[in-house]
Amino acid sequence: MDRQKALDTLKAHGQEHVMEGFDELTNEQKEQLIRQISEVDWETIALVGKDKEESKGDIEPLGAVEISEIEERKEEFTETGIKAIQEGKLGAVLLAGGMGTRLGLDKPKGELNVGLTRELCIFNCLINNLLDVTNEAKAYIPLYIMTSEKNNDETIRFFEENNYFGYPKDYVKFFVQEMAAAVDFDGKLLLEEKGRLATSPNGNGGWFSSLAKAGLLEDVKKRGVEWLNIFAVDNVLQRIGDPAFFGATLLSGADSGSKVVRKVDAYEKMGALCKKGGKPYIVEYYELSNEMAEATDENGNYLYAFGVILNYVFKVSRLEEIMNNRMPVHVVEKKIPYIDDKGELIKPTEPNGYKFETLVVDMVAMMNDSVPYEVVREKEFAPIKNLHGVDSLDSARELLKANGVEL
Ligand code: UTP
Repeated sequence: MDRQKALDTLKAHGQEHVMEGFDELTNEQKEQLIRQISEVDWETIALVGKDKEESKGDIEPLGAVEISEIEERKEEFTETGIKAIQEGKLGAVLLAGGMGTRLGLDKPKGELNVGLTRELCIFNCLINNLLDVTNEAKAYIPLYIMTSEKNNDETIRFFEENNYFGYPKDYVKFFVQEMAAAVDFDGKLLLEEKGRLATSPNGNGGWFSSLAKAGLLEDVKKRGVEWLNIFAVDNVLQRIGDPAFFGATLLSGADSGSKVVRKVDAYEKMGALCKKGGKPYIVEYYELSNEMAEATDENGNYLYAFGVILNYVFKVSRLEEIMNNRMPVHVVEKKIPYIDDKGELIKPTEPNGYKFETLVVDMVAMMNDSVPYEVVREKEFAPIKNLHGVDSLDSARELLKANGVEL
């Protein structure tokens, strides 16, 4: 794309302001801006102000493989999972490309120290959890770590500095997710500095295509990995490569499995695994009517009782089939730093625009089936979204202590 083409493209979308003052930029800045303009996904930007497209079909409850059943079949599930891990069939994918804006950190979220009397960062907790499994299986699980342009170098530096927290380096690979341009509430592109559009990671839904674009699907295949366990960076109690969960999914014949916990009450703000149009679907708490949220079965249990915790296993062959399907894009209100007309950097304290994200929950909906696998909340769910309050560093520390982790 050249300068004129960039200007024409911007004009066609009512975004000419982006190139104001273009002549004052350095050659490097000019090239960068033109490259960014050529990469803008205009179809996505056009979503601002439009109603979300709903998928078709009725929502129905799904239930779960509950803890009592898991206890009864624990040995069978675990043996199946361990055997498949030993055969090299499982890989793990850590989603660490997020910006952690609610925590307000100026470093990757995984570097947050949860220790009190010693250094114990989130990455270290996660690797310790993974080592529990690999020690049991006496086999390593390849770990693919998704970062973003904004935190990739620092994440790799930190893993190097800490000797991969005792995990073999040959089994760890990093890949970078894509970025998406952000806009203000009127749909106008924002600049984060002169000659540079404000961009942010494009959500956690694009992880598989980013992994493939980075050439790592070849690594997955070369190693004989047939399943990928994906998980969020911020749940420090996360069980990774859990043999019983993996085994239960394999034995079910489904092409995916989702870890779920029982919601604390009918209105807890988490997505619940259910069915829509006969396919797995995660219904967000704000999509459920009060009547549905409070509906119970004959034993008084909530019908939409099981919330997802961003820990899934997916069959690689199914992921390849859906890889080129366009995922729904979510338009999310966020605080986006930008430069104003005078070129001054503004760091908003309230949301001032939209970011565009695809989400893993929509990938679950692209599977034919997903095993809802219930886990004990207090043992496996300690997400750190904020510093204090619900789902925070404070609450995660309490849960880590309760699980015998020395802080
Ligand atoms: P969150 O939805 O909590 O987003 O991510 P976040 O960016 O970490 O935090 P906030 O909302 O800005 O405060 C859930 C998981 O998905 C990953 C995160 O790293 C986390 O593991 N994620 C999120 C990505 O890998 N890429 C993204 O673009 C967004």
